[in-house]
Amino acid sequence: MAVSLTRDGNVAHLIIENPPVNAASHAVRAGLMAQLAQANADPSVHAIILSCAGRTFVAGADVKEFGQPPLEPFLPNVVNAIEASHKPVVAAIHGTALGGGLELALGCHARIASPDAEMGLPEVKLGIVPGAGGTQRLPRLIGVAKAVDLVSTGRRMSAAEAHDSGLIETIADGDLVAAAATLARSLVGTEPRRTGTIPVPAFDATEVDKQITAVEKKARGQQSPAAAARLVIQAAQLPFAEGLAAERAAFLELVQSDQSKALRHVFAAERLAAKILGLEDTKPRPVETVGVVGAGLMGAGIAVAFLAAGYTVRAVERDEASAQAGRERIEGLFARLLKSGRISEAARIEQLGRLSTFAERAQLDPCDLVIEAVFDDLSVKTELFADLSTIVRPDAILATNTSYLNPDQIAAVVTNPERFLGLHFFSPANIMRLVEVVRTAQVAPDVLATGLAVVKRLGKLGVVSGVCEGFIGNRIFTAYRRECDFMLEDGALPHEIDAALEGYGFAMGPYAVNDMAGLDISWARRKRNAATRDPARRYVAIADRLCEAGHFGQKTGKGYYLYEAGRRSVDPEVTALIEAASQEAGITRRAFKADEIVARVLDGIVAEGRAILDEGIALRPSDIDLVLINGYGFPAWRGGPMYQAGMR
Ligand code: 3HC
Repeated sequence: MAVSLTRDGNVAHLIIENPPVNAASHAVRAGLMAQLAQANADPSVHAIILSCAGRTFVAGADVKEFGQPPLEPFLPNVVNAIEASHKPVVAAIHGTALGGGLELALGCHARIASPDAEMGLPEVKLGIVPGAGGTQRLPRLIGVAKAVDLVSTGRRMSAAEAHDSGLIETIADGDLVAAAATLARSLVGTEPRRTGTIPVPAFDATEVDKQITAVEKKARGQQSPAAAARLVIQAAQLPFAEGLAAERAAFLELVQSDQSKALRHVFAAERLAAKILGLEDTKPRPVETVGVVGAGLMGAGIAVAFLAAGYTVRAVERDEASAQAGRERIEGLFARLLKSGRISEAARIEQLGRLSTFAERAQLDPCDLVIEAVFDDLSVKTELFADLSTIVRPDAILATNTSYLNPDQIAAVVTNPERFLGLHFFSPANIMRLVEVVRTAQVAPDVLATGLAVVKRLGKLGVVSGVCEGFIGNRIFTAYRRECDFMLEDGALPHEIDAALEGYGFAMGPYAVNDMAGLDISWARRKRNAATRDPARRYVAIADRLCEAGHFGQKTGKGYYLYEAGRRSVDPEVTALIEAASQEAGITRRAFKADEIVARVLDGIVAEGRAILDEGIALRPSDIDLVLINGYGFPAWRGGPMYQAGMR
């Protein structure tokens, strides 16, 4: 039975049990209706608790039911029935109360949560808005501005934040259900506090308008965030029942939208990425102490990511001064996290307390996993890994963060090379979600499984890639950039290409990205590879010409654009340089429309994606979608390039 009813004296206890995440499937909704009616009809029941078995409170509506004809009772009606109950109903929340799960809790008359519980309305991430009263009830408890923030970002609130903002009444000290029963008993004989009857607190309309404008800008073409935010405003403007009806109509419309279908593809793709054929029953090796070699920008970001996930981190630099500078870099990243409100002062102190920095590699001896983030040069890395092989336990895992080198060449110097793999982080590593887990030729199944498990514990998304130049992401990005450079030489200008791709929904156009990252590193790589370049392949020399003219990107005030007083503008010198390059290549320049630019880029990405699949580098088209979305700013609401190409 999906919902059972037990008794604790005069308190009825409804328990939802629908593994793995207690989604509000049809059986749960029907069960809730039936058991609630029974509890309400029983005169010996004075109060009711709603809780869940297993690892979490209800994690939302059942996304697997989205494409199917809806079956009654619908979730909004279940929530309304709970709210209408004349006996007090208390939600006892553990794990994650998300989407329809939080909406069920909002329908209850009081909420109590365990200290590590999290709550949120992540519907926008599926391209929809909450559909069971979330946008109408939430602002009544926590105010409009905070509700707009939660529904438009889909972010989760901790129990502490939920308590401070008025979403929950209490955080349970010890046993959650016992505390919920005490709370429920204290409410017996009082009029239930029905969320829908609470007036929406006054708010500053101008400020909230600004908030919505910012939401729209950030959504880059995705509809649901602003739609959810506007529904919150309507909660303040419409009678409750009309607000609920408006929300339901928006939900039903968006659930059919292409954007929601694409985002549901992404949701499924993320779960699929973790499933690797042959690893189903493989147990990962235990990892608690992690070594990070190199505490530059990348290494510091990696260290912060591991500290945030509860690991003990030993960071090593080449000498005392560099170790000290590395520690300061890591502390600087924490200071930024604190300033932006992403972590509390207590968390900052606790996490930094698990960091030690050293100037000797020998100090990595107790590590279960060592990851390097040193200069991307084969001889530097082989020297390092040969040394590491003698320092750590023979079964400790060794990982390279190389972007372009061949990890199998590095593996050649590792003793027990089956413990060696690639963990390719994206910069800034404490923020970016993607990690390519690179499957080296000899890697042991449990080492690959450990790589994926560690990445998951970091709260990041791991995608397995085979070995090739640039792995999945940078190899496709190279093809993407190549296509853009061809158009640059054929007649488009950097700002036209960037505008077309940003119009499509990319976070940033490729030339703006290049200016931010700096043009010199790839220039050095091109010079290194010049001798082995295939002379028959078209080569666009514009980037080289720019570097020769001292355009290294934002850091030098000029790259593909000109940067003056923090403002980016089109640089006539660059335009002239590009036109000269076209002429030199014997090309008559022509105009490009935005649609053509986008189509060319997508075709280039998809062709490379197909090659990568054919070679077995990526396991499935949806993995390529995830890499592009999470590493290169491809708009998630378009589902990814392979999804767009129909390769689902
Ligand atoms: N419906 C159906 N299945 C779900 C589900 C959901 N809402 N959420 C998760 N699952 C499934 C996953 O597909 C996965 O199945 P699999 O094992 O067959 O691959 C399994 O549950 C475990 O999920 P995860 O691998 O994601 O487990 P984690 O422990 O890493 O994370 C979680 C758990 C935080 C609950 C995460 O699954 C999650 O964020 N789920 C989505 C929550 C969500 O989006 N809720 C809103 C739904 S829309 C809604 O409620 C509309 C309403 O307003 C009407």
